[in-house]
Amino acid sequence: MTNFLLLSAAARRLEGKVAVITGGASGIGESTARLFSRHGAKVVIADVQDDLGQSVCRDLNPSSTTFIHCDVTNEKDVENAVNTATTKYGKLDIMFNNAGISGVVNPNILVNNKADFEQVLKVNLVGVFLGIKHAARVMMGARKGTIINTASVCSIIGGGASHAYTSSKHGVEGLTKNTAVELGKYGIRVNCVSPYLVETSMTKKFFKFDDEGVGGAYSNLNGVVLKAEDVAEAVLYLGSDESKYVSGHNLIVDGGYTITNSGFCIFEQS
Ligand SMILES: NC(=O)c1ccc[n+]([C@@H]2O[C@H](COP(=O)([O-])OP(=O)(O)OC[C@H]3O[C@@H](n4cnc5c(N)ncnc54)[C@H](O)[C@@H]3O)[C@@H](O)[C@H]2O)c1
Repeated sequence: MTNFLLLSAAARRLEGKVAVITGGASGIGESTARLFSRHGAKVVIADVQDDLGQSVCRDLNPSSTTFIHCDVTNEKDVENAVNTATTKYGKLDIMFNNAGISGVVNPNILVNNKADFEQVLKVNLVGVFLGIKHAARVMMGARKGTIINTASVCSIIGGGASHAYTSSKHGVEGLTKNTAVELGKYGIRVNCVSPYLVETSMTKKFFKFDDEGVGGAYSNLNGVVLKAEDVAEAVLYLGSDESKYVSGHNLIVDGGYTITNSGFCIFEQS
């Protein structure tokens, strides 16, 4: 039961709220589950990594955290994760569609494999679609709710990842906007969060970092290294009432990476 009850009641920004977090067993999802718990939310962690997910729940408050096995590409699993929140905790206020995979790194389209491409789209985009759909099913009746999807800086630029990953994240941004338009009339907000490079199990596998980790990668903003906890803070904002009029937004957490053009710039680049 670490990380819990450290904030005073007045400081808890999600007191009484119920959240489902896909991909909550590790990385950005895990950090968000920890932060949401500290802020008073009841959290359902939905992931394919059962042991890891269960151990995160044990480490948080077991009476307000639940693990459910969920493969986001399987509609029944996603439906079940949402239903677990409503049957166990009575409602669903926040859906964080965060599960994702990097896929195979292969910088040559001629040898890109169709099945690999489809698998990335299935997890990163179809998984988000299913999460929005089943969250909306519950939230429409309540006429409120907030849905947050994890996109990436690859949702707005090319060249940062594989064709499949970049396509999937552009898709997440498009789906966020489209569903924000459809669901606004029910009082449901839909936003996405777009981080730059964060050291997690996914990026360790993808980029094979040296000892410096992501600290050695290019950054526009000196003196800070982006951590999963920083992304969780952005998700907390979108999940809380502080963002009550924000919908259809892509909240980019990149230290200015995507607004620079290091190939043509009048300022000295470090
Ligand atoms: N780490 C980064 O630099 C970075 C940057 C931008 C966006 N993202 C995005 O952040 C999200 C989280 O990634 P992360 O970096 O924390 O990686 P991670 O590997 O630590 O976490 C991803 C989680 O998703 C789960 N998952 C994978 N496939 C799943 C499936 N089919 N069903 C359910 N769960 C599944 C994994 O088990 C894991 O717990 C992803 O959507 C990723 O694309 C990451």
